[in-house]
Amino acid sequence: NSIKEAEFIISNTDHSKCPAPDLPEYAFIGRSNVGKSSLINMLSGRKSLAKISGKPGKTQLINHFLMDKSWYLVDLPGYGYAKVSKKVNAGWGNMINNYLTSRENLVCIFVLIDSRLPPQKIDVEFIDFLGRNQLPLSIIFTKADKQSRNKTQQNVAVFKKNMLNTWDEFPPHFISSATEEKGKEAILGFIEQLNEH
Ligand code: GTP
Ligand code: MG
Repeated sequence: NSIKEAEFIISNTDHSKCPAPDLPEYAFIGRSNVGKSSLINMLSGRKSLAKISGKPGKTQLINHFLMDKSWYLVDLPGYGYAKVSKKVNAGWGNMINNYLTSRENLVCIFVLIDSRLPPQKIDVEFIDFLGRNQLPLSIIFTKADKQSRNKTQQNVAVFKKNMLNTWDEFPPHFISSATEEKGKEAILGFIEQLNEH
């Protein structure tokens, strides 16, 4: 599983200006600094397709990339960066809500979760928002190289248990490491499978 061609298409603040919804689309979202850009670069096999920032909270746009001319990958701005103003945060909410709830070709929203942390309120709230709107999601636990495999498994189990308090089932999930190229095959395989249906 690998992507042969990855092409940046357009950045938007307005979901209505996104490319025509004529191909399956997969969005990536998560807390600022969780490793979205790194994951997207790993998946696409390009070192700098998405910008990797030292400064979190910089990406404030909906970024469309066309993969192998057959599906869209969307890099969404990170949420929950404390240093952006309330006004910017509210703007983020509207932009992302509008995009997520009205984008008709959206097949799956990948929510990135830092595998090192116990469930964070902001992540749980975001996932519950997706649930309330019946949006399809899957979870990627990032930065798994930063701790032992056991510790990652433990944290995933805690996250799952916490989610099952309010959810009927745990969505599809993956464990990733951009530095060790972990999770690439599984995530691309999952996307490929969905594209075939
Ligand atoms: P924003 O766009 O600013 O919200 O951040 P982001 O979610 O795109 O995160 P980004 O990919 O820029 O990574 C943030 C920091 O974490 C960078 O210093 C990365 O090098 C580091 N990082 C990302 N993924 C991994 C990983 O899998 N393992 C390790 N060890 N570091 C990672
Ligand atoms: Mg980024």
